[in-house]
Amino acid sequence: MFDRTKMALAAAGVLGLAACGQGGGETPPAAKTAATQPSPAEVQALLASLPAPYNTADLDNGRRQFGLCRSCHTIAEGGPNLTGPNLHGMFGRQAASVTGYRYSDALQAADFVWDAERLNEWLANPRTYLPGNRMTFAGLSDPEKRVDLIAYLKVESGFSSAVTTNDAPDAAAVAPDQ
Ligand code: HEC
Repeated sequence: MFDRTKMALAAAGVLGLAACGQGGGETPPAAKTAATQPSPAEVQALLASLPAPYNTADLDNGRRQFGLCRSCHTIAEGGPNLTGPNLHGMFGRQAASVTGYRYSDALQAADFVWDAERLNEWLANPRTYLPGNRMTFAGLSDPEKRVDLIAYLKVESGFSSAVTTNDAPDAAAVAPDQ
C-alpha cells in the first residue's frame, strides 16, 4: 500500500503538482508521508549490513517479486491480515505468531523462528516445506529472485527497528541473524 502512495506521489512530482508547495524538491516525497518507512540512505545502509548474499541483492527486483505476495500479505507495520498474515517484523519471530490470524495446524506446529534461511526454503516450495499448510503459492524456483525478495522483505519488514526498539516481541532472537 505504501508503494501505491509512493507511486502516486512520484507521478504527482512528475506532473509538477508537488512543486507548488515547498519549492525545494530535494526531500523525497515518500519521506514526508510515510514516517515509519526508512529513508533511502537508511535502506542502503541496512542492505549493506545484511549477510551475503543479501547485502548485494537487487531491491528493485525484490520489490517486483513481492508483487507475487501482495495479494495475500501486507508488510507495513500494523498492516491488516489478508488471506495471509501481516509480515511486518517477521524476521526473528516465531512461526505462526501474528495475533488475530488463524493459521493452519501445519504452520502452528512449526516450531521455529523465521530467518532468511527458513524463508528461502519456504518460498522455494511452500507445499513441501510444511505439508498441510494453507499458503497456496506455487513457489519461487529462481534462487536469485528469492535472494532479492528476502533482502527486500528484511528491509521493508522493519528488520532494523526490530533490533533497536521494543515493539517486536522477539527482538532478542533477531540478533544472531544479523
Ligand atoms: C494466495 C495467497 C498467498 C500468496 C500469494 C502468498 N502467501 Fe504467504 N501465506 C498465505 C497464507 C494463507 C499463509 C498462512 C498459511 C497457513 O496458516 O498454513 C501464509 C503464510 C506465510 C508466511 C508465514 C507467516 C507466519 O506468521 O508464520 C510467510 C513468511 C509468507 N506467507 C510469506 C509469503 C511471501 C514472501 C509470499 C510471496 C512470494 C507469499 N507468502 C505469497 C497466503 C499467501
